[in-house]
Amino acid sequence: MSRILIKNGTLITDQESRQVDLLIEGEKIVAIEAVSAKNVETVVDASGKFILPGGIDPHTHFDLPMFGTVSSDDHYTGTKAAAFGGTTTVIDFVSLDFPTLHESVEAWREKAAKAAVDYTAHMNLTRFDSNIAAEIPRLPEWGIASLKVFTAYNNRLRLDDGSIFKALQIARQHDMLVLIHAENGDVIEVLTTQALAAGHTEPIWHARTRPAWGAVEATLRACALAAQADAPIYIVHMNAAGEVDMLRYARERGVRAMGETCPQYLFFTEEDLKRPDGAKWICSPPMRTSADNNRLWQGLMDGTLQTVGTDHCPFFFDGTKPILYEGKPVAIPGKELGKDDFTKIPNGLPGVQDRLPVLWTAGVVSGKLTPQQFVALTSTNPAKIFGLYPRKGALLPGSDADIVIWDPNKKVKYGVALSHQRTDYNLYEGWELTGYPEKVFLRGKLIVDGERWLGKSGDGQFLPRRSSGEFL
Ligand code: URP
Ligand code: ZN
Ligand code: ZN
Repeated sequence: MSRILIKNGTLITDQESRQVDLLIEGEKIVAIEAVSAKNVETVVDASGKFILPGGIDPHTHFDLPMFGTVSSDDHYTGTKAAAFGGTTTVIDFVSLDFPTLHESVEAWREKAAKAAVDYTAHMNLTRFDSNIAAEIPRLPEWGIASLKVFTAYNNRLRLDDGSIFKALQIARQHDMLVLIHAENGDVIEVLTTQALAAGHTEPIWHARTRPAWGAVEATLRACALAAQADAPIYIVHMNAAGEVDMLRYARERGVRAMGETCPQYLFFTEEDLKRPDGAKWICSPPMRTSADNNRLWQGLMDGTLQTVGTDHCPFFFDGTKPILYEGKPVAIPGKELGKDDFTKIPNGLPGVQDRLPVLWTAGVVSGKLTPQQFVALTSTNPAKIFGLYPRKGALLPGSDADIVIWDPNKKVKYGVALSHQRTDYNLYEGWELTGYPEKVFLRGKLIVDGERWLGKSGDGQFLPRRSSGEFL
């Protein structure tokens, strides 16, 4: 069994920072203390570097068919990009594309098997009837212990409140966690019809037809439904100041509600949709205002929000022009599909590689977050909430050796040239970042070494989750 010693690094966990040596045997961390280099094949000198647990992205959409196209990263390309950004576990979504949950899970397992980092999934509960209700309790047998429901996307993904309430009751009985996409589908439908009738086709109308009030109201509704079902709930991609207020309101009253935001909601606003290339910023829910950005940061700093995911769901900006990916030309229809109609622009953005580097610079280097909070938000909390801890999200003897050697002093000019996300743009083009992953280990295997890719399709393992994790 191979033994790798990482020497002289500063270990960063959600609790502390300390100078240690870390010994890996095979796929596991076996010791964290001063270790002698005897009987060790490889010694990695991490002087001046930080040792972080591999990132866990709780929200990705790889190979997702939508808007007549498909998200442009599949489970290989997306997880390779994740690894370059320091993320070694992703939680994807199973689309309910088949009559049964089981068939849908099987189809997703087949597609996901090419992942290059470890992976698991949430089940998208986008239909609800007695057959589906009867099948939900079996999901943990197939390793899936969380469900996502939607209060928006009328006639497509949305469930009515009664069905969401029943799903929460079933989830509680079977120790599963419900995730919720909180927007007001009815208001969106009315405003979209009116905007198109008035001839409004530009990207900014995406935000104008999905008002923040709808997200705020739906967040409180979700918390209220969870309270009445006595079930925990996790609000995904929180984007509006009022949502943070509603989450706080619910948590202060004992509701087991948790929240996730994503980098795009911390940095961008609906003004970005007015740019000539505004379609690049189209995702649902949309970005809001700088006051919303600030309130979300505050929520991360004061613990109202528990995680930062990405909602990685990339599309090409111009899918008629191929890019080179691993030496081969690739073009996938993207945002240009909606050049004459904002409702036809595929919703979603790249971000799985960007998350740790941009959050480190804007969060830790700026002094908004401690390194411990950074690790908690991007790794340990997702592991705890989704039942992966302490195998993942921890640097403890017995944990998987998913390790990032982080160079806190490395400066990069970030953008599409450094990105392995399979798309033709990057939201953070030209951003000056300080702090970047230097080496990434997946279960003891070095998969990223600087700009060298040593991983491969199929290196990732499915992580079955039989029950939900902790309420944080
Ligand atoms: O625009 C987005 N976020 N696309 C992915 C689907 C979702 O609602 O998370
Ligand atoms: Zn969503
Ligand atoms: Zn999503």
